[in-house]
Amino acid sequence: VRSFVIIGRTATASSDFLLDDLAGSSGRLDVLTRCVRAALLTSHGVRKDADVFLVLLGGERAPRTVRIQGETAKFLRPDERSLAVLLQKSLASHADDDATGFVDLRHGVSLSRGGVVELLPMFEGRPLYVLSEGAPDVREATLAKGAVIVLGDHTGFDEDTLAALRARGATSASLGPVSLHSDDAVCVMNNELDRRAL
Ligand SMILES: C[S@@+](CC[C@H](N)C(=O)[O-])C[C@H]1O[C@@H](n2cnc3c(N)ncnc32)[C@H](O)[C@@H]1O
Repeated sequence: VRSFVIIGRTATASSDFLLDDLAGSSGRLDVLTRCVRAALLTSHGVRKDADVFLVLLGGERAPRTVRIQGETAKFLRPDERSLAVLLQKSLASHADDDATGFVDLRHGVSLSRGGVVELLPMFEGRPLYVLSEGAPDVREATLAKGAVIVLGDHTGFDEDTLAALRARGATSASLGPVSLHSDDAVCVMNNELDRRAL
């Protein structure tokens, strides 16, 4: 499986946002919903071999992480609003309050307390890549199966996250000379892995 981890520095970890003003009321959860679409959905289907982790660092209930797994998720739709509804229902849950690790909420959707530091042990033994502008070009990089790809949101990465990723030996890679939106970066990376059949 290939995994995408999106660090939402401002994205709210609570369900307290307006579907009619997602971008303005959720700390830019809209960026993350678009990443879910780019990571998991193809023209006519779902990538069974991919999953996405949304690390939500904004608001009172932060940090929390939502995981959506292509293999088991049902009724995933590509539009931002229905993905936002899915996140809102998930974030309203208290199932993760006293739990350790991910708690299943519905088919393919689970939730855990904690952010990237709590998440990294799950990826033990898998190659970790951090997408960063200005790093060596991904086209020159050796990519391996089971890649975990970490991206920032519209504000990039915070130092603590970068330090945790470096400590875990993550490789930095760039997708070319232009800084892209996070969902476009996911899309380009999926394409790179598809071309290499990884
Ligand atoms: C909108 S960009 C972040 C821009 C932010 N202002 C900054 O300076 O970091 C969102 C994320 O997409 C990824 N990204 C965008 N363009 C990229 C590129 N050309 N190469 C590698 N990663 C890229 C990075 O992970 C970045 O944190």
